[in-house]
Amino acid sequence: MENAKYLRRHEWGSLVGFLGVIVLVYFLLTTDYTEKTPLRRVLANVNGQETRELKLDTHDRLQVVVDNGLVQVTLSRPAGDVVGIKYNGVDNLLEARNERDNRGYWDVVWNEPDGHDGLVGRIAGTHFTIIKENKDQIELSFTQTWNLSLRGKQIVPLNVERRYIFQRGISGYYSYAIFERLKGWPEVSFGQIRAVYKLRGDKFRYMALSDDKQRIMPTQEDREKGQALAYPEAVLLTDTSNPELMGEVDDKYQYSSEGKDNKVHGWLSADPPVGFWIITPSNEFRSAGPIKQELTSHVGPTVLSMFMSTHYAGEELNMKFENGEPWKKVFGPIFVYLNSVSTKKDLQKLWADAKDQMLREVQSWPYNFIQSEDFPTASQRGTVVGQLVVRDRYMNERSLQWAESAYVGLAAPGEAGSWQRETKGYQFWTQADKEGRFQIKNVRPGDYNLYAWVPGVVGDYQNNTKITIKPGSEVKLGLIVYRPPRNGPTLWEIGIPDRTAAEFYIPDPKPTLTNRLYNNSEKFRQYGLWDRYGDLYQDQDLIYTINVSDYRKDWFYAQVTRSTNNRAYKGTTWQIKFEIENVNKNGIYTLQLALASANFAELQVRFNDPNAQPAHFSTGLIGRDNAIARHGIHGLYRFYSIKASGNLFQEGNNTIYLTQSRDETVFQGVMYDYLRLEGPPQW
Ligand SMILES: *[C@@H]1O[C@H](CO)[C@@H](O)[C@H](O)[C@H]1NC(C)=O
Ligand SMILES: *[C@@H]1O[C@H](CO)[C@@H](O)[C@H](O)[C@H]1NC(C)=O
Ligand SMILES: *[C@@H]1O[C@H](CO)[C@@H](O)[C@H](O)[C@H]1NC(C)=O
Ligand SMILES: *[C@@H]1O[C@H](CO)[C@@H](O)[C@H](O)[C@H]1NC(C)=O
Ligand SMILES: *[C@@H]1O[C@H](CO)[C@@H](O)[C@H](O)[C@H]1NC(C)=O
Repeated sequence: MENAKYLRRHEWGSLVGFLGVIVLVYFLLTTDYTEKTPLRRVLANVNGQETRELKLDTHDRLQVVVDNGLVQVTLSRPAGDVVGIKYNGVDNLLEARNERDNRGYWDVVWNEPDGHDGLVGRIAGTHFTIIKENKDQIELSFTQTWNLSLRGKQIVPLNVERRYIFQRGISGYYSYAIFERLKGWPEVSFGQIRAVYKLRGDKFRYMALSDDKQRIMPTQEDREKGQALAYPEAVLLTDTSNPELMGEVDDKYQYSSEGKDNKVHGWLSADPPVGFWIITPSNEFRSAGPIKQELTSHVGPTVLSMFMSTHYAGEELNMKFENGEPWKKVFGPIFVYLNSVSTKKDLQKLWADAKDQMLREVQSWPYNFIQSEDFPTASQRGTVVGQLVVRDRYMNERSLQWAESAYVGLAAPGEAGSWQRETKGYQFWTQADKEGRFQIKNVRPGDYNLYAWVPGVVGDYQNNTKITIKPGSEVKLGLIVYRPPRNGPTLWEIGIPDRTAAEFYIPDPKPTLTNRLYNNSEKFRQYGLWDRYGDLYQDQDLIYTINVSDYRKDWFYAQVTRSTNNRAYKGTTWQIKFEIENVNKNGIYTLQLALASANFAELQVRFNDPNAQPAHFSTGLIGRDNAIARHGIHGLYRFYSIKASGNLFQEGNNTIYLTQSRDETVFQGVMYDYLRLEGPPQW
């Protein structure tokens, strides 16, 4: 994009031949034809302004300026925040009306054992060093160091080194940070670690998260004039500068994304036509695996890079350290990418170009130009290959079934499913092919367990054999068999085992509370859907009849509380009705029950007696993932195999009662992933 414009700007004339030769020679000398070499990078070096030196200016004690002819970045010194990004004729793409430490920064939420919870601290370096400086690359470092004498002083109890990398001809920069705790440091837990960019509100009005999720956004002022809904993040826009946005709901949680899908997002400015993007080429340093949901971009205009948080999971995902426990982790590098076109009518090309750039970054992962020894290069990493199959004897008596499109990953040693609560280490995930074959590449040295789950199959696979990756390791696992939970033949099932409630009935939002982006897809991201339960089931809770009902229409996506007239809430009891022709009174039946989400909930299960005390089964109080309020269609996955003796059933009609009993607020409840009743084992 960038070079195209420069080319147009230039007088080609007699230069063309000369440049042509240089380009050709350059190609022959430098191109590794096995890689997809970005043409722009090659052109950039032979073309006009871009042949300018990569310049580092450190004269000012309070800031450092790096300029490569395409972009000029100003960092505060010694703090290391990005305070200015000059690009394409705009003096600063960041919101210059904000304080210098409130434009491009990192922050951390932490909790101390003495009850100081939710402390928010900025990362602020006290020491600046130049790690590398030559004509092609500059790498800068800003360090903050902590020690025991700073205890209780509200300074983030971590050593943090933030690094920035600038290259010649590259329209953007790389940024990463090394977080460290030393032996002997006190107990603490971290609830969030992120990088934040606040863009110029008068320029950036259009946000893009994916091909389908792009829109003109309200401004910060629009939000401030709006009406707060059930929680402060959700606002009904009642007075907007752009009349088209009137009456819509804005809520940053509507723009959340699973880690595996969150590789590029950002904003467009129309005048001048410029894009600002955060590209995250790998999910390895994000916590809790590939389907952990995080915020992306939102009104501000704000662009986030979330490294870890408790969002869509709750305090179970706090990163907890015991007294004395050491730790080190590299977050990033992420790439801040800037692009531009010469006319406004080509604005959409900026999104396409940002996606292309994202693919190039993914292909060059792990980067080979990172100076920190804490970031291993490709040759210092390892690979794990294998093939996963499923053995479910009641599905497929004789043969194995390929674990098609299985998610297979390496994470810290633990238990089945523990990866979804794992926050301190690195995780490496891939998706298997049709025949369950997988290759996990670029794994950092360390000890791992292999974990997997298979779309369409219940439960979690884990292999207890510790896998140790050394530089250059290639671990061949061969055929690996997953035996999912299964005790007997299926009598009936509800839903699809895929860890979400997306296949169930998702109501329309109230017409006065919509976000137009989700009119036609991902309806679950609409605001206020929990309230629709009471509208649909006014007199009686949900009753689902096997062989009559259809889960796509008759199973509400969440078992929420019901609001009563006096602004109190009531738990609800859902019923599943089904027939059994011949009951095996001596047999053991199994209800396989998978939950996609839980928030301060308790699910009780009863067979044929709605008043049995105690309930046949109860989950106890579970979950704080808040996925109902935050429009996630899942939070953490929970799986229960509930056994029931045959004498609880009767010939003919039977009913299972599912009671969600906790009812202090509107946001308590569960989302189901899948339910299956199995008869007694037959062999
Ligand atoms: C601890 O940190 C403070 C503040 O940076 C510094 O003044 C002090 O010298 C440090 N103490 C030790 C023992 O390193
Ligand atoms: C675990 O992996 C090893 C190969 O490393 C394999 O031999 C073994 O059968 C696997 N165990 C399970 C429970 O799948
Ligand atoms: C989306 O739905 C709302 C409310 O039903 C409606 O007003 C609006 O026109 C729809 N927008 C689009 C783009 O379909
Ligand atoms: C559902 O219908 C099938 C086919 O008619 C029947 O075999 C089965 O027993 C029914 N199941 C239940 C639980 O009613
Ligand atoms: C079983 O329930 C169905 C409706 O779900 C009803 O039509 C039928 O009469 C019931 N059978 C018995 C024996 O109660």
